[in-house]
Amino acid sequence: MLDIRIFKLIHLVSIMALFLAFGAAMLETIKFRWIALLHGIALLLILITGFGMLALLGVHGQPPAWAMGKFGIWILFGLSLVFAKRKLVPKPALATWLFLLGAGAAFLALWKP
Ligand code: HEM
Repeated sequence: MLDIRIFKLIHLVSIMALFLAFGAAMLETIKFRWIALLHGIALLLILITGFGMLALLGVHGQPPAWAMGKFGIWILFGLSLVFAKRKLVPKPALATWLFLLGAGAAFLALWKP
């Protein structure tokens, strides 16, 4: 039986990588192509491990509302790179938005409302 902690570890490290990618995008420290790659790989791993953990938690078929909410947040994290790249919103507003998304995703995983 696969240990759920392996999935959770990759889930959490990928979230760190995701925020690293947004930080780099805002500071424009490296080429955007690398930022997009890091952002994409992180999101992919978050998705795979998220649904992997759901399966290990015994959730099959239609995911519960909290998991659907996390999927919605996952999509918003995906779209948010466009905001960072095109400088559509001020950086403090973008940072606040990203923190709120992250807090929302963590809340949904912990409380499962
Ligand atoms: C499709 C997207 C996602 C799915 C299906 C998903 C699913 C899950 C599941 C099943 C767990 C384990 C819950 C448990 O052990 O009781 C978890 C944990 C967690 N997720 Fe996600 N997740 C997704 C995206 C995200 C995103 C985008 C973030 C934040 C940026 C995030 C943050 C967390 C955190 C912090 C935990 C650890 C909570 C704990 O300690 O149990 N997740 N997620």
